[in-house]
Amino acid sequence: MATLHTKVGIIGAGPAGLLLSHLLHLEGIESIVIEVQTRQYVEERNRAGVLEQGTVDLLNASGVGERLRREGLIHHGIELRFNRQGHRIDMHELTGGRAITVYAQHEVVKDLVHARLRDGGQILFEASQVSIHDFEGDSPRIRFERHGEPSEVACDFIGGCDGFHGICRPSIPAGALRFYEKTYPFGWLGITAEAVPASHELIYSNHERGFALLSMRSPIITRAYLQCRPDEDLAAWPDERIWEELDRRFETCGGFRLNRGPVDQKGVTPMRSFVTEPMQYGRLFLAGDAAHIVPPTGAKGLNLAVADVRILARALSAWYGTGSEQLLKQYSDICLRRVWRAQHFSWWMTSMLHRFEGGDGFDHRRQLAELDQVTTLRAAAVTLAENYTGLPFDLPGETL
Ligand code: APR
Ligand code: PHB
Repeated sequence: MATLHTKVGIIGAGPAGLLLSHLLHLEGIESIVIEVQTRQYVEERNRAGVLEQGTVDLLNASGVGERLRREGLIHHGIELRFNRQGHRIDMHELTGGRAITVYAQHEVVKDLVHARLRDGGQILFEASQVSIHDFEGDSPRIRFERHGEPSEVACDFIGGCDGFHGICRPSIPAGALRFYEKTYPFGWLGITAEAVPASHELIYSNHERGFALLSMRSPIITRAYLQCRPDEDLAAWPDERIWEELDRRFETCGGFRLNRGPVDQKGVTPMRSFVTEPMQYGRLFLAGDAAHIVPPTGAKGLNLAVADVRILARALSAWYGTGSEQLLKQYSDICLRRVWRAQHFSWWMTSMLHRFEGGDGFDHRRQLAELDQVTTLRAAAVTLAENYTGLPFDLPGETL
């Protein structure tokens, strides 16, 4: 069996794994990324699309922001729509100058893959039978097969960046972790269409028929979502029905209509909140979706993954640089504080905007009162804007 040696073995070439590898490289720390899918698959997988200010700043500062600066769409506000009226939340003004950038997750992945390969990094795509071993001690190992050949990576640490369905979290002995989970009784039906977005900013709409979100991928590509059943059958949703339902949920007194165009992609995403505590076991460190999931209403999933690996890279750099274990020991606690804040925000946005079945309409009336508050009381609007654009980073030794 071929054995490769590196400092950090990273499982998963999503945003978490790739950015960890890139940040470690900038600190002079070698790593190898092991991924089950092909390069094309990870570069084309359509996921989230909203980057917090701190995420954008980190990508720029670490030298992978060139295309993001050219193609990313900077948004200074969002719209909350209810009672057939739009209300703008001016995040830029409310936060003293912060913004979000709309730039698809798979574009971030493309930029990171490009940077890693340009800098001589190793990403082993199309690995199978991936398993991790000996991470309770000082010499962890990763075993896998590639092109039918068994291989092994010997390393000092393992970055468990293999997403929610990966193997890292389940490899930790039962009883060592605690899980917190909430499943919502709905999902999102999402489409990407070749149509000019009907609004320059994102619209989050609370409607009696269910939540809807208007987003975009570029000035000519619309991305939109409809609240649906978690097990919704896509076959029951021909394009025409989706456009009609979107128009109904975004309707305004002013006769708002979406621009229609060919639908390129369609899918249903279940909605869940999930947290693993702690995010570390021995020399295995979980990051991103491997450790936590948020419902997409707060646009936090990708940003949390980025925040995790920023801390992990810093902690590993301290360990290799000075031998100090302090930050590695604090990794989980530092991450979890932000994770729970994002969980709360994502849950709050979800519960304020979605239709919940049953009851006598009390919940809907309560939601409207809450939306009324958020769109008229400055303190409430500031809370939304601060959370949406991203909480500040307070990590010892960080300069950003
Ligand atoms: N071995 C190697 N790689 C694996 C394995 C495995 N056993 N299992 C899964 N992977 C890979 C997946 O193919 C994927 O490319 O791990 C990667 C995990 O990437 P993501 O799921 O994108 O997770 P993460 O990098 O944490 O990014 C979180 O993704 O789901 C969105 O909303 C979420 O935006 C957030 C982001
Ligand atoms: C997206 O564009 O995919 C998107 C935007 C905002 C969200 C969730 C998803 O809250």
